[in-house]
Amino acid sequence: MNILGIETSCDETSAAVLRGDFAIASSVVLSQDEIHAPYGGVVPELASRQHILSISYVVEESLRRAELELRDIDAYSVTQGPGLIGSLLVGLSYAKALGFAFRKPVIPVDHLEAHVYSAFLENRRIRFPVLALLVSGGHTSLLWMERELRYEPIGHTRDDAAGEALDKIAKFLGLGYPGGPIIDKLAADGDPRTFRLAPPQMSDGSPDFSFSGFKTAALRQIREWNLTRGHPGIQDFLAGFESSVVRALLHNVDRAVRERSPESLILCGGVARNRRLRREFEAYGRNAGIPAYIPSPEFCTDNAAMVAGLALARRESGETSASELTLNAYARRSRG
Ligand code: KG4
Ligand code: ZN
Repeated sequence: MNILGIETSCDETSAAVLRGDFAIASSVVLSQDEIHAPYGGVVPELASRQHILSISYVVEESLRRAELELRDIDAYSVTQGPGLIGSLLVGLSYAKALGFAFRKPVIPVDHLEAHVYSAFLENRRIRFPVLALLVSGGHTSLLWMERELRYEPIGHTRDDAAGEALDKIAKFLGLGYPGGPIIDKLAADGDPRTFRLAPPQMSDGSPDFSFSGFKTAALRQIREWNLTRGHPGIQDFLAGFESSVVRALLHNVDRAVRERSPESLILCGGVARNRRLRREFEAYGRNAGIPAYIPSPEFCTDNAAMVAGLALARRESGETSASELTLNAYARRSRG
């Protein structure tokens, strides 16, 4: 059994091959960062065009690295949504065409669920119930998994996602794109106590997140102190900002842990590459006596291995896919 995964929900073109025993035979990710960098954010039209140019190469490369050919693939899996609709449609159409041509099933996968699944790629023995914190450029969500393959959203961002806030602050300071990894690097040498920012919390006490007011407060500080790329206080400022974002995320995790008593914790999504967040999430798990799982950095940002893994798990559990040619992409998650 070999399954090919395809992921094109935003600005990474990715394909991966997993074997029936969940071993990752190949994982190829082609980033479009250079294309979007001059604009300081993803330009949807450019993203979908680039997916069209890259998809065949990326799929072929994933097969070459797995030492397989298309006829060796037993099922296809692809991200159906949420994401940029033009980008999603490239991967979805490609997977549907392959499924049709080779008469093999096409398993559609939800992007958020795939991110949570990325933790299971490297550890299949995570105990349920699980509390998962998904932090990416498009999402900041808490998800509850009572058992395998069941995802109940219990909190989400009401405005900006955490990654979006990091990217926007970096853009404002002229640091480059994407901002998350740049802030991660610069903040490592800063003192988070120099510039204090009250971490954002919902005034109604709900488990939702909000980062837009926080971003405005950070922008005010930047103007007040005339902070720019070369300012001697820039690393301290970024360390303070990053540390407040981490505190806000962990505050909501803690509330959900107290309410629901999970057996395991998962941290996933692109921002889960952030070293301070990884460190503090692990420390939180240790103090709370709950095992905390964080995927390797390469599986935190968008990748197709998590897509193929989730599809394989669904297939193993006996789920069958409907008529694949009618599958359509969705920009937002409405179910669950
Ligand atoms: O999961 P992802 O690849 O795409 C979405 O589904 O949104 O996440 C991309 C986000 C971007 O906002 C990027 O700045 C952030 O992940 N990111 C990081 C780091 N690496 C990527 N944020 C903080 N620290 C990092 N090292
Ligand atoms: Zn993502």
